[in-house]
Amino acid sequence: MDKKEIVRMLNEDFIHEIEASLVYVRNSFMMRDCDPSRLTEAIAVDEMRHMWWLADLITKRGGEPDMSHPPLEFGVLRHIIDEEKRHRKEFKERLAKYR
Ligand SMILES: [Fe+2]
Repeated sequence: MDKKEIVRMLNEDFIHEIEASLVYVRNSFMMRDCDPSRLTEAIAVDEMRHMWWLADLITKRGGEPDMSHPPLEFGVLRHIIDEEKRHRKEFKERLAKYR
């Protein structure tokens, strides 16, 4: 697999992290200040950390992080949980592919 394809795949994951970060940030804004809102904010920071890791992998391969993302769905937590499961499944499939 060439570097360009690796950067493209890393950018796909990077965009998922952008979406997750923004959804968590927005949801934390929408809740009154309480433990769940602080936890949601902390998860948003974790998702931003994931963005940083992927951006590092992208730039080390000569690429640029792609900041574009599809329209966001700020739905209920069910949507977030479904997205997290989907991302986890995709990461596992990618890891299995390159081992
Ligand atoms: Fe993440």
